[in-house]
Amino acid sequence: MFLDIVFMVSIVLVADARSPHADFVDELAKSHVFGNRISDNVMEDALLDLPDLVRKYNYPFEEHFVATEDGYILGVHRIPHGRDSKNLPENKPVAFLMHGLLCSSAEYITMGPGTALAYILAEEGFDVWLGNARGTYYSRRHTNLNPDARFNSTYWKFSWDEIGNKDLPSMIDYVLDYTGKSALHYIGMSQGTTTFFAMASLRPEYNKKIISMQAMAPVAYLAYNSNPLFLVLSPYGRELEKLASLLGIGELFPRREIYTLLGKSFCADGAITQPICSNLLFYIAGRNDDQHNATMWPVKLGHAPAGISVRQLIHYSQSIINKEFRRYDHGFLNNIEIYGRATPPSYDLSKISAPVFLHYAANDPLAHLNDVGRLYRELGNPMGKFLVPHPEFSHADFLFGIDANTLVYNTVIRIMKQHDI
Ligand SMILES: *[C@@H]1O[C@H](CO)[C@@H](O)[C@H](O)[C@H]1NC(C)=O
Ligand SMILES: *[C@@H]1O[C@H](CO)[C@@H](O)[C@H](O)[C@H]1NC(C)=O
Repeated sequence: MFLDIVFMVSIVLVADARSPHADFVDELAKSHVFGNRISDNVMEDALLDLPDLVRKYNYPFEEHFVATEDGYILGVHRIPHGRDSKNLPENKPVAFLMHGLLCSSAEYITMGPGTALAYILAEEGFDVWLGNARGTYYSRRHTNLNPDARFNSTYWKFSWDEIGNKDLPSMIDYVLDYTGKSALHYIGMSQGTTTFFAMASLRPEYNKKIISMQAMAPVAYLAYNSNPLFLVLSPYGRELEKLASLLGIGELFPRREIYTLLGKSFCADGAITQPICSNLLFYIAGRNDDQHNATMWPVKLGHAPAGISVRQLIHYSQSIINKEFRRYDHGFLNNIEIYGRATPPSYDLSKISAPVFLHYAANDPLAHLNDVGRLYRELGNPMGKFLVPHPEFSHADFLFGIDANTLVYNTVIRIMKQHDI
């Protein structure tokens, strides 16, 4: 456990030091210590950027840009149809996918055709759109703030509250306007569900734009969270934020070349260090050996982590400490200024009138059964609750699980087809 933390911290330190270490890792990669039993395909996929990766598998790919009311410029991706389904009806239903913490649109694509959700939906006749939250690799732009400003983290002063309250409405409106539709299916994973619940309770007028909400590994309440890293760090949330702010640090885990190099050198098939990579993931997201395909490490690390703000983490630690699903706690004085009260208001889940379906797993440390149960009871229009029929299924398996298609996506797609308008 201690070693895992040391490994993680050193990844962050190495990652933040950039080039000198990158050369060092590259040297290691070239050396024979780590062997060379790696499939060309995995290595190629790890190095391709998203548009090229999708086009390599003969799927159409479009990149759109959407500006939010507060000036963030978001990259929104689209796979408008499947490989051979150009002749399907023009009037496809829209599926809008929103990623989790540390991830980006790429996570719905990295596992490749037949396994990754974005491709499966495209083949099933959906017009697939993928959002990217502010601050992630594809949305790291702003009309006048600089994400890389030295000693000034103004760009990064947001948590998932703003992603839900501002980014999601802007992206959803853009997609509906572009496709001429009045409503879409929303699929979220982890933070992609948190942000939805924030949006649909703060801006209830958006509920009517949602045909169905498919919430995979849903995260609202974190009272029973058993992620050890979060548990250790949470009590220090406010101090950590103050320290980061003083140092001008607003961003954590930005996408860097170094992760790709780590993936290819330390986590690939044949590397003696591969089990450390897998154990680190299990440590954070729950252990499940039989759904984990370690061969895919280089591709995963070629696209993630994709960057978050310090406040996204702090906001989750606040949920763990206060055991409620509340807006960001800015501290007593700022709360009074922003919310007109000393403590932040709770998100009113009863205002969520969109039909919500929860897909959750028994071995998910970040979406505990009790927390999911409370969420379901408090939602305005809960439509169904689906426990993944696999006792070990854990958090990351919703994206990367070998059998995610049969265990989760089939149910999601069946419901979406039943609820089409
Ligand atoms: C940081 O940048 C913002 C936007 O450019 C500016 O308004 C603010 O005064 C700056 N803060 C500091 C401490 O320089
Ligand atoms: C794991 O990924 C590799 C590379 O994509 C693939 O060849 C292999 O079939 C996958 N294994 C399983 C069990 O799905």
